[in-house]
Amino acid sequence: MDYLLKIDRNKTPKHVAIIMDGNGRWAQKQGHDRLYGHNFGVESVRESLKAAKEIGVQYLTLYAFSTENWNRPKDEVDGLMNLLVTSLANEIKELSEGGVRISAIGDLKGLPEACQNELIQAMNATNDNKEIHLNLALNYSAKWEITRAVNQLMASENLKLPVTSENIEKYLTTQGIPDPELLIRTSGEHRVSNFLLWQIAYTEFHFTDVLWPDFKREDFFKAVLDYQSRERRFGMLSEQLI
Ligand code: FPP
Repeated sequence: MDYLLKIDRNKTPKHVAIIMDGNGRWAQKQGHDRLYGHNFGVESVRESLKAAKEIGVQYLTLYAFSTENWNRPKDEVDGLMNLLVTSLANEIKELSEGGVRISAIGDLKGLPEACQNELIQAMNATNDNKEIHLNLALNYSAKWEITRAVNQLMASENLKLPVTSENIEKYLTTQGIPDPELLIRTSGEHRVSNFLLWQIAYTEFHFTDVLWPDFKREDFFKAVLDYQSRERRFGMLSEQLI
């Protein structure tokens, strides 16, 4: 079925966030080590980015490495960091020519130097691109982000009490990026795992059993169609929305 044809372009979400999950299980099912799954996961990143561009999504935020992921075995952590460096280096030209602007959220100073350098290069090289914003959450957790925002706000010279939610938002890593309308999580897990807790207050969730390396363009469109079938009431009644 061609899900693309069913999508209402007037209701395309501006911002889609994805918790890419299931790489390890996908690899182990086939008798490979977990890194094999992460490697294939990069192809699903490409597919999702392409699909998002096709329907006019403006921001795609991917949960690529959480602050909790450091607790994984060293081989896996090192492998993931290398994968990030090589993927950015390999894709930068195509991303740049395709109008993709790369940014990152998270405690980036905690990443290995090679990773920081590659990210800086990618961000600089794509800074003027306007077609779609690919935002990578790296060494990120929402509790880290909110705690940091509160600390920065309290230390700010312009602090005025009472603190408002708008004040806090100014210090979030996503400042200037609209909240995601749609959050996708793959692999059949139904949790948020410390991702964008502030920004998803009114986000629609789409959970799928598909493991991340199997998540393709059509799966992305299916998630958007699911989103478009929802009535977003923001605490109001249906009749008030008309
Ligand atoms: C979760 O699957 C996936 C990750 C922790 C890493 C995701 C990273 C990539 C797909 C590579 C990203 C690359 C770029 C360029 C953004 P899991 O390992 O938790 O799977 P499991 O739940 O089956 O164990």
